[in-house]
Amino acid sequence: MCGIIGYCGHRPAVPLIVEGLRRLEYRGYDSAGVAFVQGRDIEIIKAEGKLGQLDKKLEGRDIMNATSGMGHTRWATHGLPVERNAHPHLDSTGRLALVHNGIFENYQEVKDDLLTKGYTFHSETDTEVLVNLISEGLKQTGDVLKGLSWALRQAEGSYAIVLVDRENPGVLHAARKSSPLVLGIGQGENFLASDVPAFLPYTRDVVFLDDGDLVRLDASTWQVLRYDDLTPLEKKVHHITWDVQAAQKGGYKHFMIKEIFEQPKVITDCLAGRIDTAAGTARLPEIEDLPVPKRLRIVACGTSFHAGLWGMYLLEKWARIPVQVEIASEFRYRDLILDSDDVVLAISQSGETADTLAGIKVAKDLGASILGLCNVVGSSVARESDHVIYTQAGPEMSVASTKAMCSQLVALTLLALVWGRKKGVLSPEAQASAVRELADLPALLDDALPAMRDEAKRLCRLYSEAKSFLYLGRGPCFPLALEGALKLKEISYIHAEGYASGEMKHGPIALIDPKFPTFALALADELFPKVKSNLQEVQARGGPIIALTQPGVDLTVDHRWVLPTASGPMSTFLALPALQLFAYEMADYLGKDVDQPRNLAKSVTVE
Ligand code: F6R
Repeated sequence: MCGIIGYCGHRPAVPLIVEGLRRLEYRGYDSAGVAFVQGRDIEIIKAEGKLGQLDKKLEGRDIMNATSGMGHTRWATHGLPVERNAHPHLDSTGRLALVHNGIFENYQEVKDDLLTKGYTFHSETDTEVLVNLISEGLKQTGDVLKGLSWALRQAEGSYAIVLVDRENPGVLHAARKSSPLVLGIGQGENFLASDVPAFLPYTRDVVFLDDGDLVRLDASTWQVLRYDDLTPLEKKVHHITWDVQAAQKGGYKHFMIKEIFEQPKVITDCLAGRIDTAAGTARLPEIEDLPVPKRLRIVACGTSFHAGLWGMYLLEKWARIPVQVEIASEFRYRDLILDSDDVVLAISQSGETADTLAGIKVAKDLGASILGLCNVVGSSVARESDHVIYTQAGPEMSVASTKAMCSQLVALTLLALVWGRKKGVLSPEAQASAVRELADLPALLDDALPAMRDEAKRLCRLYSEAKSFLYLGRGPCFPLALEGALKLKEISYIHAEGYASGEMKHGPIALIDPKFPTFALALADELFPKVKSNLQEVQARGGPIIALTQPGVDLTVDHRWVLPTASGPMSTFLALPALQLFAYEMADYLGKDVDQPRNLAKSVTVE
């Protein structure tokens, strides 16, 4: 997730672009850059780090003349967060510059072809490949608009892009597919941006661009066309009334709820370039050439630990790999028995968690190899790992992790599929059906989320007086029970305990009474009959029950919260947001500081 902005108008473009980038910094901030035409050349100024670094580079530069240009604040997905990978990127001829938010999936194939045609590359980014592909399109068609359309017809993946042409500095071209881009319409000036806050001080009239839209704009005109055949399209202009803060949250009240609703997109992004539905296969290029581990230790903290625990069930079932999952703060101080046959999978959203990093160090010293599963590109966990898989969830702003866990579960599913295939223990039919179900998940979840939120709102009001909750689940639903309890306690400050359903009768059952609610995961899986009998034990003691369940499940409890049907492990991707939504709505109803709960930090860099 990056932030992009383009401007054509009558004001000095560069300061306006940098100011716009500052309002987009919440979308990611590992490097930033601007491009504008100066004399006969495109001037590109970029810097690694936060925007302040770019400000320093702009000091004393001649930047006040350009009245059009574009900028980018980066959240790395391909290539390390260093200056050479920062946007904008120039094509080999120096005529075109591009900023890009998204993932150009077939970039390697296109790059190989462009190399044979004499194009040269100076970064590791997919974006530099895309600008050169547009350059090739320009060469073939003799026109920037047609060349852009030609290139986009070959580009697979997601993109929101803005293009500057040295030969026509007062005109910008842009396009979008599966990454956000809005057009801002001003008086004698027009804007493009990933999100409305970037240009909100100048105009509130916006066009929300759709997938497949291509835009041509100058200071006084704009036109939207179909990207493939350049047919002009009619667009509705909306008048925005949000303030900047609300706009950064996409109109949502908190980042947490915005991020919960982003999960369908997060699943799509994490799968990008990693599944082939026609062939029915999953691939993780980062580990394809590595041997399948004989044994796997998963090490993580908090929500990432719960993701790892969930992954264990799938890795054992599909890839037949013995897995042990460890809390990093315990793992690091154990008298561990590890050797070079062991692979340690370190899971961390931030990649900066001190205990996870210490666990990596201990395991490395004992000769184990380290596979990192991280969200933040170039983070310490990524750098300390021998190999790394990125979850591609975009920056997570809310302290309580939601979409990052979803992306970790997707990546773990892919790992189980890839290792199961490589070991020959997962049938091609089972792989193909899992790949199909993964591909269908984003639409299924997108449809389900609004009703799930309504149900979460209704239920939390009924239980807002509760002092404590018990969360129960079995099998892969046990880590979900732990996660549901963690989410509730960390943001609503209601005590909650996650327990394995079958373990309840060994102690916690003593707590059950009519004032002590149980939140049960009773999904349509092979363990359901066992879960049902555990819930009957709760009912026999007068304990009220909310049960997350699915159509056709025979269960009578106080509140049946029926999720859509999904098969096997895919049900998790519906149950997880339900748990998150319940915690969110409860915390909001109780008036808590949802995005920044007391005593917590987003990344725990101390022991
Ligand atoms: C809970 C939460 C934390 C983190 C934990 C590990 O909502 O966010 O429990 O999951 O601090 O953080 P990472 O994944 O960054 O290592």
